[in-house]
Amino acid sequence: MSSHPRVHVHPHPHSRSPVPRHGGGGGGHRSHHASHHGSPRHGSAPHSGIMTPDPSNSSAVMEDAFAAGVDFYALSAPLALRKEEEDARTAVVFFVNGRKITEQRPEPTMTLLTYLRTKLGLTGTKLGCGEGGCGACTVMLSHYDHSAKRIVHRSANACLAPMCAMDGMAVTTVEGIGSTSTKLHPVQERIAKAHGSQCGFCTPGIVMSMYTLLRNNPNPSPELVEDAFQGNLCRCTGYRPILDAFKTFCTDDSEHAQCHMANGNGDAATLAAAATTSTPHPASVNGDASQPDVSVSAGASSCPMGADCCRNKPASSANDCGTDGKAASVVVSASADGQRKTFHGPSALLVGLDFAPYDPSQELIFPPELMNSTHATNTRALHIQGETYAWYKPMSLPALLEIKHQHPHARLVCGNTEIGIEVKFKHQIYKTLVSVAHLPELNTITHSSAGVRVGASVTLTDLGDYMSHLCETLPRYQTRTFSAIVENLRWFAGHQIRNVSAVAGNIVTASPISDLNPIFMAAGCTLTLASATGGQRNVPFSKFYKGYRQTLLEPTEIMLAITIPYTRDFEFVEAFKQAKRREDDIAIVNAGMRILLEMVPAAQVQAAAPAPSSSSSNSSSSAASNDTTELVPVIREIALSYGGMAPTTVLSPKTSEALVNRVFDESIVQVGCAALAEDFPLGISTPGGMVEYRRSLNTSFFFKFYLMVVESLRERLLTDVDANNGPTDASDGAAVVAGASTVNGAVNGSNVAAPTADPRALSATERTHRPVSSSIQEYQRPVEHANPNDQVGDPVRHMSALKQATGEAIYVDDIPRYGNELYGALVFSQRAHANIRSIDAGAALEMPGVFAFYSAKDIPGSNHIGPAVIDEECFAETEVTCVGQVIGIVLAETQSEAQQAARKVKVEYEDLPAVISILDAIEAKSYYSPINKIQTGDVDAAIAAAEVVVEGEFHMGGQEHFYLETQATLAVPSREDGEMELFVSTQAPMKTQSMVAKVLGVDYNRVNCRVKRMGGGFGGKETRSIYVSCAAAVAAQLSRRPVRIMLDRDEDMCSSGQRHPFHAKYRVGATRAGKLCGVDVKMYSNGGNSLDLSVAVMERALFSIDNVYNIPVVRGEGFVCKTNLPSNTAFRGFGAPQGMMIVEAWMQHLAAALKMDVDAVRELNFYHEGDRTHFTQVLTDCHVEKTWKFARESAHFAERRAACDAFNKVNRWRKRGLAAVPTKFGISFTLKLMNQAGALVQIYTDGSVLLTHGGTEMGQGLHTKMVQVASRELGIPMSMIHVTETSTSTVPNTSPTAASAGSDLNGMAVKNACETLNGRLKPFKEANPTGTFADWVRAAYVDRVSLSSTGFYATPNIGYDFKNNIGKPFAYLSYGASVAEVEIDTLTGDATTLHCTVVMDVGHSLNPAVDIGQVEGGFVQGMGLFTLEESHWSQKGMLWTRGPGMYKIPGFMDIPLDFRVHLLKDSGNEYAIHASKAVGEPPLFLAASVFYAIRDAVASARSSALTALLRSNASAWPASTTLPCLDDFTKPFPVPAFDDPVNKHRWNVVV
Ligand SMILES: Cc1cc2nc3c(=O)[nH]c(=O)nc-3n(C[C@H](O)[C@H](O)[C@H](O)COP(=O)(O)OP(=O)(O)OC[C@H]3O[C@@H](n4cnc5c(N)ncnc54)[C@H](O)[C@@H]3O)c2cc1C
Ligand code: FES
Ligand code: FES
Repeated sequence: MSSHPRVHVHPHPHSRSPVPRHGGGGGGHRSHHASHHGSPRHGSAPHSGIMTPDPSNSSAVMEDAFAAGVDFYALSAPLALRKEEEDARTAVVFFVNGRKITEQRPEPTMTLLTYLRTKLGLTGTKLGCGEGGCGACTVMLSHYDHSAKRIVHRSANACLAPMCAMDGMAVTTVEGIGSTSTKLHPVQERIAKAHGSQCGFCTPGIVMSMYTLLRNNPNPSPELVEDAFQGNLCRCTGYRPILDAFKTFCTDDSEHAQCHMANGNGDAATLAAAATTSTPHPASVNGDASQPDVSVSAGASSCPMGADCCRNKPASSANDCGTDGKAASVVVSASADGQRKTFHGPSALLVGLDFAPYDPSQELIFPPELMNSTHATNTRALHIQGETYAWYKPMSLPALLEIKHQHPHARLVCGNTEIGIEVKFKHQIYKTLVSVAHLPELNTITHSSAGVRVGASVTLTDLGDYMSHLCETLPRYQTRTFSAIVENLRWFAGHQIRNVSAVAGNIVTASPISDLNPIFMAAGCTLTLASATGGQRNVPFSKFYKGYRQTLLEPTEIMLAITIPYTRDFEFVEAFKQAKRREDDIAIVNAGMRILLEMVPAAQVQAAAPAPSSSSSNSSSSAASNDTTELVPVIREIALSYGGMAPTTVLSPKTSEALVNRVFDESIVQVGCAALAEDFPLGISTPGGMVEYRRSLNTSFFFKFYLMVVESLRERLLTDVDANNGPTDASDGAAVVAGASTVNGAVNGSNVAAPTADPRALSATERTHRPVSSSIQEYQRPVEHANPNDQVGDPVRHMSALKQATGEAIYVDDIPRYGNELYGALVFSQRAHANIRSIDAGAALEMPGVFAFYSAKDIPGSNHIGPAVIDEECFAETEVTCVGQVIGIVLAETQSEAQQAARKVKVEYEDLPAVISILDAIEAKSYYSPINKIQTGDVDAAIAAAEVVVEGEFHMGGQEHFYLETQATLAVPSREDGEMELFVSTQAPMKTQSMVAKVLGVDYNRVNCRVKRMGGGFGGKETRSIYVSCAAAVAAQLSRRPVRIMLDRDEDMCSSGQRHPFHAKYRVGATRAGKLCGVDVKMYSNGGNSLDLSVAVMERALFSIDNVYNIPVVRGEGFVCKTNLPSNTAFRGFGAPQGMMIVEAWMQHLAAALKMDVDAVRELNFYHEGDRTHFTQVLTDCHVEKTWKFARESAHFAERRAACDAFNKVNRWRKRGLAAVPTKFGISFTLKLMNQAGALVQIYTDGSVLLTHGGTEMGQGLHTKMVQVASRELGIPMSMIHVTETSTSTVPNTSPTAASAGSDLNGMAVKNACETLNGRLKPFKEANPTGTFADWVRAAYVDRVSLSSTGFYATPNIGYDFKNNIGKPFAYLSYGASVAEVEIDTLTGDATTLHCTVVMDVGHSLNPAVDIGQVEGGFVQGMGLFTLEESHWSQKGMLWTRGPGMYKIPGFMDIPLDFRVHLLKDSGNEYAIHASKAVGEPPLFLAASVFYAIRDAVASARSSALTALLRSNASAWPASTTLPCLDDFTKPFPVPAFDDPVNKHRWNVVV
């Protein structure tokens, strides 16, 4: 991070390819302002400044920049520092959004994010995680590269960037590029208009990633757009609309934009043919050898849309299309009744939208003064000495060495991406920080005969770009290490991290899972270290690590550079990484592998062959030809380096020893795998867990390496080597014997016999290169409205979207600080179950800035709270029952002071036995009451009489909500009457009000809870926001000062609970034909340490144990386990996804037992119109079959199945799977009293309307829909209606916004209020029929008529008696179905979702854009639940997975490659507002289709049914995918049964 050049420049005289790779979006690409000096077009290295002599010509080797030697440093360093210090500055000078800032002596530990938000009030940049994992804080950093004379723009995480490191930089935030009051930037406008912003908390960060991409590339390709967001997360949208919005900047993607066939996921029949006839590398995800060609070349008939394909439509049918032409392929047709029109096609929601053109010349200019090389930031050192901390920015290497000499404990800072984490989360204190990112000596890349020497501060983005350039310009045989680095960097963090983090940062951190270190180690790199007194020394990389996070560096020493050798002829290098999520995730296991082969006469090998070992037969000579004049490849060097298998990156010595000097043939796989197992005997309790998976990856990577070398060798043998110029094409002289076990090639005139691989196996060598995704949306909207102001049914954009995109939308933590405000840091229990012996806050109170500590004894009212029953405490008094329970609160002037002090509060515990998992609870019979049951007949008899019975268990893990905005409250006390005003991020204002009143000991009428908007909720803020609000309110009351709390991500995750893990035991009886007879299921949920909503969640799970199947006799029992985890709570679906997942698990089990196709069994048992459910509700408008058929037909299920089968036949290690899943979801709160809502509509005398209702806005578009409803009712434009917030003082006694019922309930209440007002205005309308709304309003006012009205609604005809199983719990039900197709790598478990078709019944959608957003967002969140997200808990009940670094939600590249969402056509609903249906929760379960598709692929790999998976976690993330594949690489590492006692010794426990 510097205004200085990051890499030195020198043109390359021998460039073969003049065009270097252009890196991904948002990255550190060259600015379009770049001068042509060093421009790629002129054949230079991508970073004009890199010294690049021809490595094969030693005479051209450049002078080593560091060759000055020991004496130079010893003599000049003290002098250099003294000179610098005399002249040093004490102010950081930089620009923010064009404004110059000179900040005298800032706090050296302050991050840019804190500075922007608290000092400059630029709150558009958000804090989502503080660890570089979510991208909410993304800004653009620009600096001037003086040597290249160009401006460089890079995206970066403000949460990790030190404010001091901004010296000499220009920072651009979301506020700097546009605003609603001046002019929107096209990026802001497009994401908002294209429905890419729901809760909006992620939006500014995503805008800035896209903005940076455009600054570097004003006309990006779709690939660059899709690649630009590796470092950004969104929990709401499902990403599709964001990508659609930004692909409108691609001016040359007409094919992509106009037909979903562009990525080739088209006609399945054609695909089937292609799969069987494709090349030996048919893996579709990897550039897709089969699909794109087929779809593009097959013409119109190859599109699954058939005649509806956009390419067959005359232009006139797309007459609603946007002016930009992006939606030109959307098909518009009329519904049967002529009332509605259907839109169908890619980008169908962009129809009718206008976007302002993008003009790069209008961008903010870079501050000219920073381009001046004599500017102080470029010439004078910076030294900031705070009371505790110091920041140095030396201007020369000698000065740096001297600082390190004088301060041996000083930390060098490059990108701060590691130090930032250590300081924030590991609470490390580094008192002296030395900025080294800018130093030219550390940013140089030079060449010598030893290899390429890369300066320590070279960023990973620069490294990747330069390595790519070398791969394109040097002979292939020399660049194999470089290409391995490039490949691995693709999956290394996100752009924001790679743009700032340095090579040395990664190496010196000594992380055991560093992605680069295994390659550096295997490749035989050398490190150059230096100190002021010791000079330079070179250390082999393999000797650098001494132990866990320990290196050979002496305290006064720094790393200067790394030298990466060129590869030699017949030397091959590959890198591997497997993470949970492919994009921006740390490795579970990674590896770098290098092999050097020598072509040796067969006779010589036979004579020298090593004796067979006992562990494996020595087949090394078996491939050697009988022709003793022939050459065979012999392994002369082999280095296998692994990360994630030991406390440091390590080599595998036994394996190398076992393999060296062996003939390179298939036998080495067996020998190597056996030796690797010995090299890495991970014990069951190894930190990080997943030991079986890690061990199997260890060997499967080696197998992949073997196959890759076979391929590379084959390629190499088709060339010959020129003694001077390396290998040249000599394929004429080589012969490949088709079908033979060896390739015969020629080397220097001799024949070579080398191994070949079975073509079916070669897909194991494919690298995952995801093609551009595509999508289709289908929806209906009214043909026309009776009143032109009416927009009910139209795809209106989210009302706050523009403000969200510009950073103007206010969330709790964006509210400006009150003058006397304090920050509250909660003190959390560190024990799962313990008596509190004592609490000592003495040390905390002595910390600077600390105001007070409060605990249970200070509570003014009652300490006893609870959202459903009163079983929680505001502050734990005598006993803690989970890690993360709140014990007290520390108040201080700033967040960091409060948090530091909170860590000083000493709590003495006396441990008590803890119950952590469901299995523990079952054993201890630790349950909450009531234990609910639904029974419809004699189940035992029904099952006893059944022809086929299956019995099994199923376990499903929980899910972290991961709303982007964490729990937050600002409590503002009034000096009068005990009043308290709360600004809260909560779905439940009324509950918050009542619980706060209780702890304060005041009546409810003294507490006002206000909710402007939430940055996501998903159920996690229905009740679990309350403990934060109570603590803040108590502290505010006691201190008489406003108190703000916004939990850090780790605090939030540790304390706020999750979706309930479920365990089920089932018995299912059926006829031999597959007709269900009876189902008996016991479900156990992990409720945690308080009841919260767990009983209601279990009830909904019990309502869902039929999914869509008519089961004659059912018994369902639900046990809520009382455990010592943080209380689990509501999460989108509220138990229904768990219930339905259990149904689909036994459905699979039954189908396998019946040897029937599971879909046939499903269809045989579907509900039909008029059927009665097990909870006695009669189904009307039952759309089970309709949605199911529509989904399967739209997805061309049968053809897809044939294509999958064909693909699987020709691929051994990659498999495809396909599955369909149906759903039904009951709409209403299951607790009858909650089905009520209120509204308040106030008309002002200018005719403007202020609308308030009981629902809260968390991104789901509720306010937008409510304004649509009010607009229709009042007959006025939406623009005349405003919603400010939800508050208990305007609409009292509200139910939480939950159960998908927000629009249904509040919509009717709004309608009711409007009807009342319409009644009052009627006489004035009649008196003045041609008047305007404002005229009638004014007349009414003059006539003293009330212009304000409340509205109310209570859902009629519902109510259910659980005890007697009588009644109607739901107002109505909604239905849906989905089809998913996946491809897995069976060796690693890596999965790609190729296709998803989702059909959802939303009745007459109130707003198709909002509803499609809910379907896509819910579906992708469901994909997270079923296939990716997994919490790890310690055996002692502590959450390991406490942030985006360890807990992976789906990212941009996890969405289906071909994602099609259809809102069911011509469906209505007589039970909800304007015939709509609820949509928030129902689609989530449909993502189970992806899980079952993965399972289908696994079954194909095993060639056997997969009942084993039924006992494991529902997550199908890589470990759970590959282990059941049961191949040679997984069989040696069997996973113990779920309830095996050995699991008690693991690092983590399944809860
Ligand atoms: C969100 C996120 C994702 C990540 N993903 C990955 C990933 O996918 N793969 C992976 O391997 N890593 C990953 N990391 C870790 C990341 O690689 C390292 O954090 C990064 O490379 C460190 O570089 P830096 O410049 O930011 O180091 P800094 O934090 O600036 O420094 C790190 C350490 O290196 C020392 N140091 C720096 N330069 C020198 C020098 N010249 N001489 C001596 N010591 C020096 C510092 O003093 C410090 O101890 C991730 C980190 C984050 C925050
Ligand atoms: S807040 Fe910076 S990446 Fe999440
Ligand atoms: S809109 Fe992206 S997190 Fe809510």
